[in-house]
Amino acid sequence: MTDTTAPLSFEISRHTSPVNDVVRSVILDDPGFGNHFTDHMVSIDWSIEGGWDNARVIPYGPIALDPASSVLHYGQEVFEGLKAYRHEDGSIWGFRPEANATRLNLSARRLALPELPVEDFMRSLRELIAVDGAWVPSEYDTSLYLRPFMIANESFLGVRAAQKASYMLIASPAGPYFSSGVKPVSIWLPREYSRAGRGGTGEAKSGGNYAASLLPQREAVENGCAQVLFLNAENRDHIDELGGMNVFLVTRDGRLLTPNLNGNILHGITRSSIIQLAQDRGITVEERPVSIHEWKDGVQSGEITEVFACGTAAVVTPINTLKGEDFLVGDPEAPAGELTLSLREELTDIQYGRRPDPHGWMTRLDS
Ligand code: PLP
Ligand code: COI
Repeated sequence: MTDTTAPLSFEISRHTSPVNDVVRSVILDDPGFGNHFTDHMVSIDWSIEGGWDNARVIPYGPIALDPASSVLHYGQEVFEGLKAYRHEDGSIWGFRPEANATRLNLSARRLALPELPVEDFMRSLRELIAVDGAWVPSEYDTSLYLRPFMIANESFLGVRAAQKASYMLIASPAGPYFSSGVKPVSIWLPREYSRAGRGGTGEAKSGGNYAASLLPQREAVENGCAQVLFLNAENRDHIDELGGMNVFLVTRDGRLLTPNLNGNILHGITRSSIIQLAQDRGITVEERPVSIHEWKDGVQSGEITEVFACGTAAVVTPINTLKGEDFLVGDPEAPAGELTLSLREELTDIQYGRRPDPHGWMTRLDS
């Protein structure tokens, strides 16, 4: 019987034909986002009887799933997203990785999946970096995007929480999420679609929430927008978040407004870090319901001077227009706001080790 309280030990099987140095360096020079994967991945099994077991680093490749595997039918899945940054001295660091471990477990609880001890999550990151550290790029604004995820994996068609699951970790070298880089983007407000409702899974990082966002996201792209904005489902009066990012508004008198964690939106780690950095500067941050009218009317009257999105993939991305079927607010030619850019710079300077880390957010992953 497995001792479920002891930290897992990982078995390492190295790839026999990893990507060669020349090909890897071509990829790392211009990685895009989510297009390339490192040579290895982590996999850990869970069962209701045995707990977490069989932790291993294996060559990256397809996984075999029984066609009756529960994740394929009922979408019982959660995931995370965080980045490993290469500092100037070559060392490799994660940004608040324990917060991702905690959020994975918050999501897992909501999706009736097992929780992975934080220590084992951290170990999975370190084990993957130990074999695939060469995949962490060093160009400006690049990183290795780490994608931990957990799937229900029991071959059984009854609708109940699975009694078997798998945790996996894959990694992908990453440049900017938006091909436009730090240039301001437009956001699409769909007429009807919602992403989450009270009591639902909105604050869990679960694939189903993203599945619900894909049709409106396609509508956004068809209308020249980079992301879709979701309002609260009950009366569509307040902003929740974008398909894959949190949102902030800056007021003329220098306050930051962002929707409070209302159960429907993701507890963004970038969001909480921006709040902290702003408060360190003495900026007032209001976490509260933010009405869509505050955005639309505020931009028109000049009361709202900047809007930005934030997230691991997006970092801090300026927004200059909000569009819907019958309206457009903002100026498509407007440059990024000053506060937006300076918060982005402060955050990325900490992440890349270019300035001190006063909150102890960085964790070394390669030793
Ligand atoms: N909201 C959604 C729906 C997301 O997918 C993400 C990205 O992970 C975020 C917000 C931002 O979260 P974080 O800053 O932790 O990456
Ligand atoms: C992330 O920022 O990590 C996400 O999961 C969002 C997605 C747009 C890639």
